[in-house]
Amino acid sequence: MESHIEKQNSDVLMISTLPKEKCWGFSKYLHQYQGVWSTLRFLQGALSAQQQFQAQSTDIILCSSPRTGTAWLKSLTFATITRTLYDDSTTPLLSKMPHDVVPFTEFDHAQFSTNRYLGIPLLATHLPYSLLPRSIIDCGCKLIYICRDPKDTFVSLYHFIAGHCKAENTQPFQLDEAFELFYEGISPYGPYWDHVLGYWKASLEHPDKLMFLKYEELVEDTVLYLKKIAEFKGYPFSSEEQQQGVPENIVQLCSFENISGLEVNKTGKHREGHGNLGMENNIFFRKGKVGDWKNYLTTEMAQRLDQLTMQKLSDSGLSL
Ligand code: A3P
Repeated sequence: MESHIEKQNSDVLMISTLPKEKCWGFSKYLHQYQGVWSTLRFLQGALSAQQQFQAQSTDIILCSSPRTGTAWLKSLTFATITRTLYDDSTTPLLSKMPHDVVPFTEFDHAQFSTNRYLGIPLLATHLPYSLLPRSIIDCGCKLIYICRDPKDTFVSLYHFIAGHCKAENTQPFQLDEAFELFYEGISPYGPYWDHVLGYWKASLEHPDKLMFLKYEELVEDTVLYLKKIAEFKGYPFSSEEQQQGVPENIVQLCSFENISGLEVNKTGKHREGHGNLGMENNIFFRKGKVGDWKNYLTTEMAQRLDQLTMQKLSDSGLSL
Protein backbone atom coordinates (compact mmCIF):
# COMPACT_ATOMS: atom_id res chain seq x y z
CA MET A 1 0.00 0.00 0.00
CA GLU A 2 1.38 3.43 -1.04
CA SER A 3 2.09 5.84 1.84
CA HIS A 4 0.53 9.30 1.82
CA ILE A 5 3.86 10.93 0.83
CA GLU A 6 4.50 8.34 -1.93
CA LYS A 7 1.00 8.97 -3.26
CA GLN A 8 1.58 12.74 -3.27
CA ASN A 9 4.87 12.25 -5.14
CA SER A 10 3.30 9.99 -7.73
CA ASP A 11 0.44 12.52 -8.15
CA VAL A 12 2.99 15.32 -8.76
CA LEU A 13 4.72 13.15 -11.36
CA MET A 14 1.42 12.27 -13.05
CA ILE A 15 0.28 15.93 -13.07
CA SER A 16 3.53 17.00 -14.75
CA THR A 17 2.55 14.87 -17.79
CA LEU A 18 -0.94 16.41 -18.19
CA PRO A 19 -1.89 18.93 -20.89
CA LYS A 20 -1.81 22.47 -19.47
CA GLU A 21 -3.02 25.91 -20.49
CA LYS A 22 -2.68 29.41 -19.05
CA CYS A 23 -5.54 30.33 -16.73
CA TRP A 24 -6.77 33.52 -18.44
CA GLY A 25 -3.72 35.55 -17.40
CA PHE A 26 -3.54 34.27 -13.84
CA SER A 27 -0.03 33.04 -12.99
CA LYS A 28 -1.29 29.49 -12.35
CA TYR A 29 -1.81 26.93 -15.07
CA LEU A 30 -4.89 24.84 -15.67
CA HIS A 31 -4.11 21.12 -15.99
CA GLN A 32 -6.44 18.77 -17.82
CA TYR A 33 -7.16 15.64 -15.81
CA GLN A 34 -9.75 13.12 -17.01
CA GLY A 35 -11.24 15.77 -19.29
CA VAL A 36 -11.49 18.40 -16.52
CA TRP A 37 -9.39 21.59 -16.30
CA SER A 38 -8.21 22.70 -12.89
CA THR A 39 -5.38 24.49 -11.14
CA LEU A 40 -2.61 22.44 -9.57
CA ARG A 41 -3.72 23.18 -6.03
CA PHE A 42 -7.30 22.10 -6.63
CA LEU A 43 -6.23 19.06 -8.63
CA GLN A 44 -3.94 17.92 -5.84
CA GLY A 45 -6.78 18.56 -3.40
CA ALA A 46 -9.15 16.53 -5.58
CA LEU A 47 -6.75 13.58 -5.75
CA SER A 48 -6.15 13.77 -2.04
CA ALA A 49 -9.91 13.98 -1.35
CA GLN A 50 -10.51 10.97 -3.61
CA GLN A 51 -8.05 9.00 -1.55
CA GLN A 52 -8.85 10.24 1.93
CA PHE A 53 -12.16 12.03 2.19
CA GLN A 54 -14.74 10.08 4.16
CA ALA A 55 -18.25 11.34 3.66
CA GLN A 56 -20.90 10.52 6.23
CA SER A 57 -24.45 9.54 5.37
CA THR A 58 -25.77 12.59 7.24
CA ASP A 59 -23.61 15.01 5.23
CA ILE A 60 -25.13 17.51 2.86
CA ILE A 61 -22.73 18.44 0.08
CA LEU A 62 -23.22 21.63 -1.92
CA CYS A 63 -21.85 21.17 -5.43
CA SER A 64 -21.21 23.82 -8.06
CA SER A 65 -18.97 25.15 -10.75
CA PRO A 66 -17.23 28.35 -9.61
CA ARG A 67 -19.23 31.62 -9.87
CA THR A 68 -22.66 30.04 -10.03
CA GLY A 69 -23.91 31.00 -6.56
CA THR A 70 -21.89 28.73 -4.26
CA ALA A 71 -21.39 31.27 -1.46
CA TRP A 72 -25.07 32.20 -1.52
CA LEU A 73 -26.17 28.55 -1.36
CA LYS A 74 -23.70 28.02 1.47
CA SER A 75 -25.13 30.85 3.53
CA LEU A 76 -28.76 29.86 2.88
CA THR A 77 -28.20 26.21 3.79
CA PHE A 78 -25.99 27.02 6.78
CA ALA A 79 -28.52 29.48 8.18
CA THR A 80 -31.32 26.95 7.65
CA ILE A 81 -29.58 24.07 9.39
CA THR A 82 -28.43 26.23 12.31
CA ARG A 83 -31.67 28.19 12.76
CA THR A 84 -32.39 26.74 16.18
CA LEU A 85 -28.80 27.27 17.38
CA TYR A 86 -28.42 30.91 16.39
CA ASP A 87 -30.54 33.92 15.60
CA ASP A 88 -29.96 36.93 13.33
CA SER A 89 -27.63 38.51 15.86
CA THR A 90 -25.52 35.46 16.78
CA THR A 91 -25.11 33.52 13.54
CA PRO A 92 -21.47 32.89 12.56
CA LEU A 93 -22.42 34.29 9.13
CA LEU A 94 -22.08 37.76 10.65
CA SER A 95 -18.40 37.31 11.38
CA LYS A 96 -17.23 34.69 8.89
CA MET A 97 -17.55 34.63 5.15
CA PRO A 98 -19.67 31.78 3.72
CA HIS A 99 -16.63 29.82 2.45
CA ASP A 100 -15.28 29.79 6.00
CA VAL A 101 -18.41 28.25 7.51
CA VAL A 102 -18.89 25.62 4.80
CA PRO A 103 -15.51 24.18 3.79
CA PHE A 104 -14.59 22.67 0.42
CA THR A 105 -13.87 18.93 0.50
CA GLU A 106 -11.07 19.18 -2.05
CA PHE A 107 -9.39 22.19 -0.56
CA ASP A 108 -10.01 22.83 3.08
CA HIS A 109 -11.03 19.37 4.03
CA ALA A 110 -9.33 16.61 2.12
CA GLN A 111 -7.15 15.54 5.00
CA PHE A 112 -9.50 16.42 7.82
CA SER A 113 -12.61 14.66 6.74
CA THR A 114 -13.85 13.78 10.19
CA ASN A 115 -14.14 17.44 11.15
CA ARG A 116 -17.24 19.42 10.31
CA TYR A 117 -17.33 23.14 11.09
CA LEU A 118 -19.10 23.44 14.48
CA GLY A 119 -20.14 19.82 13.97
CA ILE A 120 -22.58 20.88 11.24
CA PRO A 121 -22.73 18.25 8.46
CA LEU A 122 -22.43 20.74 5.62
CA LEU A 123 -19.65 20.68 3.03
CA ALA A 124 -19.09 21.92 -0.49
CA THR A 125 -17.25 20.94 -3.61
CA HIS A 126 -16.48 22.37 -7.03
CA LEU A 127 -15.54 18.91 -8.32
CA PRO A 128 -17.45 17.56 -11.29
CA TYR A 129 -19.65 14.57 -10.50
CA SER A 130 -17.20 12.25 -12.28
CA LEU A 131 -14.35 13.21 -9.91
CA LEU A 132 -16.26 13.10 -6.61
CA PRO A 133 -14.59 10.99 -3.92
CA ARG A 134 -16.13 7.51 -4.00
CA SER A 135 -17.28 7.78 -0.39
CA ILE A 136 -19.64 10.64 -1.30
CA ILE A 137 -21.51 8.45 -3.78
CA ASP A 138 -21.32 5.28 -1.70
CA CYS A 139 -22.52 6.69 1.62
CA GLY A 140 -25.76 7.96 0.11
CA CYS A 141 -25.50 11.46 1.54
CA LYS A 142 -27.50 14.26 -0.06
CA LEU A 143 -26.10 16.60 -2.71
CA ILE A 144 -27.42 19.98 -3.83
CA TYR A 145 -26.15 21.32 -7.13
CA ILE A 146 -26.45 24.89 -8.36
CA CYS A 147 -25.80 26.06 -11.91
CA ARG A 148 -26.20 29.32 -13.79
CA ASP A 149 -26.63 30.76 -17.27
CA PRO A 150 -23.22 30.17 -18.92
CA LYS A 151 -23.10 33.81 -20.09
CA ASP A 152 -23.38 35.21 -16.55
CA THR A 153 -21.09 32.46 -15.25
CA PHE A 154 -18.43 33.45 -17.77
CA VAL A 155 -18.70 37.18 -16.99
CA SER A 156 -18.55 36.52 -13.26
CA LEU A 157 -15.57 34.17 -13.65
CA TYR A 158 -13.77 36.66 -15.86
CA HIS A 159 -14.03 39.36 -13.19
CA PHE A 160 -13.02 36.92 -10.46
CA ILE A 161 -9.86 35.86 -12.30
CA ALA A 162 -9.09 39.46 -13.29
CA GLY A 163 -9.35 40.28 -9.57
CA HIS A 164 -6.79 37.57 -8.78
CA CYS A 165 -4.52 38.93 -11.51
CA LYS A 166 -4.74 42.41 -10.01
CA ALA A 167 -3.87 41.03 -6.57
CA GLU A 168 -0.79 39.30 -7.92
CA ASN A 169 0.17 42.05 -10.39
CA THR A 170 -0.28 39.98 -13.51
CA GLN A 171 -2.11 41.05 -16.63
CA PRO A 172 -5.53 39.40 -17.12
CA PHE A 173 -6.42 38.23 -20.61
CA GLN A 174 -8.68 40.50 -22.60
CA LEU A 175 -12.32 39.52 -22.18
CA ASP A 176 -12.61 38.23 -25.75
CA GLU A 177 -9.53 36.01 -25.35
CA ALA A 178 -10.89 34.55 -22.11
CA PHE A 179 -14.24 34.09 -23.83
CA GLU A 180 -12.68 31.87 -26.49
CA LEU A 181 -11.05 29.72 -23.81
CA PHE A 182 -14.32 29.40 -21.88
CA TYR A 183 -16.06 28.51 -25.15
CA GLU A 184 -13.46 25.78 -25.75
CA GLY A 185 -14.08 24.45 -22.23
CA ILE A 186 -10.79 25.76 -20.79
CA SER A 187 -11.88 27.28 -17.50
CA PRO A 188 -11.52 26.17 -13.88
CA TYR A 189 -13.44 22.85 -13.59
CA GLY A 190 -14.45 23.23 -17.23
CA PRO A 191 -15.82 22.45 -19.68
CA TYR A 192 -18.67 24.21 -17.88
CA TRP A 193 -21.40 22.29 -19.75
CA ASP A 194 -19.90 18.91 -18.82
CA HIS A 195 -19.93 19.96 -15.16
CA VAL A 196 -23.62 20.85 -15.35
CA LEU A 197 -24.59 17.76 -17.34
CA GLY A 198 -22.77 15.39 -15.00
CA TYR A 199 -24.89 16.55 -12.07
CA TRP A 200 -28.05 16.92 -14.16
CA LYS A 201 -27.90 13.27 -15.27
CA ALA A 202 -27.15 12.11 -11.74
CA SER A 203 -30.13 14.14 -10.44
CA LEU A 204 -32.41 12.35 -12.92
CA GLU A 205 -31.09 8.98 -11.76
CA HIS A 206 -31.20 9.80 -8.04
CA PRO A 207 -33.75 12.59 -7.50
CA ASP A 208 -34.03 11.71 -3.81
CA LYS A 209 -30.27 12.20 -3.33
CA LEU A 210 -29.42 15.07 -5.66
CA MET A 211 -31.32 18.33 -5.86
CA PHE A 212 -30.63 20.41 -8.97
CA LEU A 213 -31.02 24.19 -8.76
CA LYS A 214 -30.56 27.15 -11.07
CA TYR A 215 -29.24 30.50 -9.80
CA GLU A 216 -31.90 32.31 -11.82
CA GLU A 217 -34.74 30.34 -10.20
CA LEU A 218 -33.28 31.00 -6.77
CA VAL A 219 -33.20 34.73 -7.55
CA GLU A 220 -36.76 34.63 -8.91
CA ASP A 221 -38.34 33.09 -5.81
CA THR A 222 -35.77 32.62 -3.06
CA VAL A 223 -38.29 31.83 -0.32
CA LEU A 224 -39.96 29.08 -2.35
CA TYR A 225 -36.65 27.43 -3.22
CA LEU A 226 -35.33 27.82 0.31
CA LYS A 227 -38.35 25.87 1.56
CA LYS A 228 -37.70 23.17 -1.05
CA ILE A 229 -34.02 23.02 -0.06
CA ALA A 230 -34.92 22.74 3.64
CA GLU A 231 -37.38 19.94 2.90
CA PHE A 232 -34.88 18.09 0.72
CA LYS A 233 -32.17 18.35 3.38
CA GLY A 234 -34.47 16.93 6.01
CA TYR A 235 -34.78 20.24 7.90
CA PRO A 236 -38.27 21.35 6.78
CA PHE A 237 -39.80 24.54 8.15
CA SER A 238 -42.74 23.78 10.44
CA SER A 239 -46.01 25.59 9.80
CA GLU A 240 -45.36 27.60 12.95
CA GLU A 241 -41.95 28.66 11.60
CA GLN A 242 -43.59 29.59 8.32
CA GLN A 243 -46.19 31.69 10.13
CA GLN A 244 -43.39 33.43 12.03
CA GLY A 245 -41.63 34.24 8.76
CA VAL A 246 -38.48 32.21 9.53
CA PRO A 247 -37.76 31.39 5.84
CA GLU A 248 -38.16 35.07 4.90
CA ASN A 249 -35.74 36.08 7.67
CA ILE A 250 -33.11 33.65 6.38
CA VAL A 251 -33.55 34.92 2.85
CA GLN A 252 -33.11 38.48 4.11
CA LEU A 253 -30.04 37.55 6.18
CA CYS A 254 -28.41 35.89 3.16
CA SER A 255 -29.46 38.47 0.57
CA PHE A 256 -26.70 39.92 -1.57
CA GLU A 257 -27.20 43.38 -0.09
CA ASN A 258 -26.97 42.15 3.49
CA ILE A 259 -24.18 39.60 3.15
CA SER A 260 -21.97 41.72 0.89
CA GLY A 261 -22.41 44.69 3.21
CA LEU A 262 -21.10 42.91 6.31
CA GLU A 263 -17.72 44.14 7.51
CA VAL A 264 -16.20 40.66 7.26
CA ASN A 265 -17.17 40.42 3.60
CA LYS A 266 -16.13 43.99 2.78
CA THR A 267 -12.70 44.06 4.40
CA GLY A 268 -11.90 40.53 5.62
CA LYS A 269 -9.61 37.96 4.05
CA HIS A 270 -10.16 34.33 3.21
CA ARG A 271 -7.64 31.49 3.72
CA GLU A 272 -5.14 33.75 5.41
CA GLY A 273 -2.23 32.14 7.29
CA HIS A 274 -0.37 28.86 6.76
CA GLY A 275 1.85 30.62 4.21
CA ASN A 276 -1.20 32.00 2.39
CA LEU A 277 -1.62 35.71 1.84
CA GLY A 278 -5.34 35.19 1.68
CA MET A 279 -7.91 36.55 -0.76
CA GLU A 280 -9.99 39.64 -0.19
CA ASN A 281 -13.48 38.46 0.76
CA ASN A 282 -15.09 41.18 -1.32
CA ILE A 283 -13.90 39.48 -4.52
CA PHE A 284 -16.60 36.85 -3.90
CA PHE A 285 -19.42 39.42 -3.99
CA ARG A 286 -19.69 41.41 -7.18
CA LYS A 287 -23.23 42.29 -8.34
CA GLY A 288 -25.42 39.25 -7.74
CA LYS A 289 -27.61 40.05 -10.76
CA VAL A 290 -29.19 37.95 -13.48
CA GLY A 291 -28.31 39.09 -17.01
CA ASP A 292 -25.24 41.20 -16.22
CA TRP A 293 -23.65 39.56 -19.29
CA LYS A 294 -25.49 42.17 -21.38
CA ASN A 295 -23.01 44.76 -20.11
CA TYR A 296 -19.99 42.79 -21.32
CA LEU A 297 -20.75 40.42 -24.21
CA THR A 298 -21.45 41.43 -27.79
CA THR A 299 -24.62 40.10 -29.40
CA GLU A 300 -22.48 37.75 -31.46
CA MET A 301 -20.68 36.37 -28.40
CA ALA A 302 -23.99 35.82 -26.60
CA GLN A 303 -25.49 34.07 -29.62
CA ARG A 304 -22.45 31.81 -30.00
CA LEU A 305 -22.56 30.82 -26.35
CA ASP A 306 -26.33 30.23 -26.47
CA GLN A 307 -25.95 28.06 -29.55
CA LEU A 308 -23.18 26.03 -27.97
CA THR A 309 -25.28 25.60 -24.82
CA MET A 310 -28.22 24.38 -26.89
CA GLN A 311 -25.99 21.90 -28.70
CA LYS A 312 -24.36 20.62 -25.54
CA LEU A 313 -27.65 20.23 -23.67
CA SER A 314 -29.67 18.87 -26.57
CA ASP A 315 -31.56 15.68 -25.64
CA SER A 316 -30.79 16.22 -21.96
CA GLY A 317 -34.13 17.82 -21.08
CA LEU A 318 -32.23 20.70 -19.45
CA SER A 319 -32.17 24.30 -20.60
CA LEU A 320 -29.97 27.10 -19.32
P1 A3P B 1 -21.61 38.04 -9.98
O1 A3P B 1 -20.13 38.02 -10.25
O2 A3P B 1 -22.42 37.89 -11.23
O3 A3P B 1 -22.04 39.17 -9.16
P2 A3P B 1 -19.77 31.71 -6.35
O4 A3P B 1 -20.11 31.93 -4.94
O5 A3P B 1 -20.17 30.36 -6.89
O6 A3P B 1 -18.34 32.03 -6.64
O7 A3P B 1 -20.68 32.71 -7.21
C1 A3P B 1 -20.40 34.07 -7.22
C2 A3P B 1 -21.55 34.83 -7.81
O8 A3P B 1 -22.64 34.81 -6.89
C3 A3P B 1 -21.17 36.28 -8.01
O9 A3P B 1 -21.95 36.72 -9.13
C4 A3P B 1 -21.64 36.88 -6.70
O10 A3P B 1 -21.79 38.27 -6.73
C5 A3P B 1 -22.96 36.15 -6.51
N1 A3P B 1 -23.43 36.17 -5.12
C6 A3P B 1 -22.68 36.12 -4.00
N2 A3P B 1 -23.47 36.19 -2.91
C7 A3P B 1 -24.74 36.30 -3.37
C8 A3P B 1 -26.02 36.44 -2.73
N3 A3P B 1 -26.12 36.48 -1.40
N4 A3P B 1 -27.11 36.51 -3.51
C9 A3P B 1 -27.02 36.47 -4.85
N5 A3P B 1 -25.84 36.36 -5.51
C10 A3P B 1 -24.71 36.28 -4.79
